[in-house]
Amino acid sequence: MFYQLGLIGYPVEHSLSPWIHQSFLKNAHLQGRYDLIEVHPEKSLGDILLELKEQHYTGFNVTVPYKQKIMPYLDKIDTSAEHIGAVNTVIYRDGNWIGYNTDGFGFVRALEYRYPEVIEKTNIQVLLIGAGGAARGIYAALQMKDVERIDIANRTRTNALKIANQDQTKVKTDIYSLEESEKRLNQYDIIIQTTDVGMKPKQHKSIISLQNLEQPNIICDIVYQPISTNFLKNAKQRGAKILQGHLMLLFQAQRAFEIWTNQAVSIGKMDEQLKQLLEGR
Ligand code: ATR
Repeated sequence: MFYQLGLIGYPVEHSLSPWIHQSFLKNAHLQGRYDLIEVHPEKSLGDILLELKEQHYTGFNVTVPYKQKIMPYLDKIDTSAEHIGAVNTVIYRDGNWIGYNTDGFGFVRALEYRYPEVIEKTNIQVLLIGAGGAARGIYAALQMKDVERIDIANRTRTNALKIANQDQTKVKTDIYSLEESEKRLNQYDIIIQTTDVGMKPKQHKSIISLQNLEQPNIICDIVYQPISTNFLKNAKQRGAKILQGHLMLLFQAQRAFEIWTNQAVSIGKMDEQLKQLLEGR
């Protein structure tokens, strides 16, 4: 079998996904290719899907600005992607285009990979900063784990409430402003920054101040450009353990690759290699 894969988005030229998936193909000893498919906003997504079908695509990833826009064009959507309201992975199976979202799952895998001892703990207390698509995916994926509380801090309270109200599960959630959350940092085992604040070219920014941080908790950032954000640098200086965003990028891709190929693939040395690639940018 030859795996014809790709990424649709606009723009896509700087994407690291081709490197990641070509490495997975190699690690798994599979034949295939992964192409960047730049889709101009004026093009019809319906036409794009027809073209990809004619070209025998196995599946593709979806990035900005199409993660939500692609949804009405798909034949089926996995329940967790439906719930998150965004699709980042599509497979063509039995005549149907099927959409998935692997972002939250990728985050949890990254956490387990770097800090496996965290999963052994019970009553885990989490603070999620931000309430966009990424936060929604991570909120959903964390619920599969033994997490007792996931509080949300966000600039716009109503957006945080949308996440908390939609999920009727046993996990407890309180909503805070960004300022309020700065005073509560020591109550959490894990703090996850899910907004794009701190991303290049605005890398001097941090979503909140960590000056009250005293606990040796785990601080995560989903931003991976730069690989060590200001937020993570501050966390490290205060003795926290950190989780860099490139690992979520890697593990959401691993999950997508598993969906396309139906087989497990190891990340091998890709953690280090990806870090070096990003540091060179
Ligand atoms: P994604 O789908 O990538 O998560 P998104 O849906 O646009 O992106 O969500 C972005 C998140 O980052 C939101 O929580 C947003 O806060 P609001 O809900 O108040 O809009 C947050 N965000 C983005 N820029 C921000 C900034 N400069 N300050 C504070 N929060 C910011």
